[in-house]
Amino acid sequence: VALLESTSTKDLPIGIFDSGVGGLTVAKAILKRMPSEHLLYFGDTAHMPYGDRSADHILEYSRRIADFLYQKGIKLLVIACNSASAVSFLALQQEYKGIIDVVGVIRPVVSYVVKHNINKLGIIGTKATIAAGTHEKLIKAVKPEQEICTVATPLLAPMIEEGFFNNMISQSVIDNYLSCEELCDIDALVLACTHYPLIKQEINLFYKNKVDLIDPSEIVADYVFDVLHQRDLLATDKKQDDLFFVSEHTDNFEQTTQLFYGKKVNIQEVNIWNQTDNL
Ligand code: DGL
Repeated sequence: VALLESTSTKDLPIGIFDSGVGGLTVAKAILKRMPSEHLLYFGDTAHMPYGDRSADHILEYSRRIADFLYQKGIKLLVIACNSASAVSFLALQQEYKGIIDVVGVIRPVVSYVVKHNINKLGIIGTKATIAAGTHEKLIKAVKPEQEICTVATPLLAPMIEEGFFNNMISQSVIDNYLSCEELCDIDALVLACTHYPLIKQEINLFYKNKVDLIDPSEIVADYVFDVLHQRDLLATDKKQDDLFFVSEHTDNFEQTTQLFYGKKVNIQEVNIWNQTDNL
């Protein structure tokens, strides 16, 4: 019975959520690292951008989405959003303790940063992520001498969510943010928003490849692998296609998933909020 139970848990999908397309960068890295896994992805497009929302609202959205995915049957939950990880990780970890593991995108990146010798570290993210200061607090707790500068870049995620990347408009917005004084002379830059790997090329162009870009997606994928491996929960073969849920259909969500998967994927619009909610 124990063997049967553990076999069926292995076959459950990994639940993953973001405010929109940003979490796809993490989803893609997870599938590259673990091609046998299947994913249930939730993009909360109706509430995007999370980065401009209050911590209370982000926590409430995160709880609803976690519950929705959990009810569908998942073996692990990935909060593929820095804003939601900054605000909701500890609460969700506590609420699902002993039930499923919850992985955020900040702690794995912090473990990576403290293991590397970086003179001056830049961090860019949404207003919610930068205001929470989670990266900085966790890094300084281990390495108090680490020089860090953080800058909120609130236009970037909505810009990407609207499909503006790899064009002249996005390049000039990016150049404008990155030329600020705080970020001069940095050696490495944490892309502390899961949308930003989509503009990695443009960021590299600005820095002429001279600044190391720390992209959370692969670091988080390695972390997820370690957790599943330790729990003996790695899937052995992919039995089902990945499924996508959005709180509001958007053309860009459809186009970006197609870009990532190279084919049309199964996207369902769902309403997981009560009519009486004032969110
Ligand atoms: N991709 C998200 C993050 O990592 C959120 C972007 C947003 O909705 O503001 O913070």
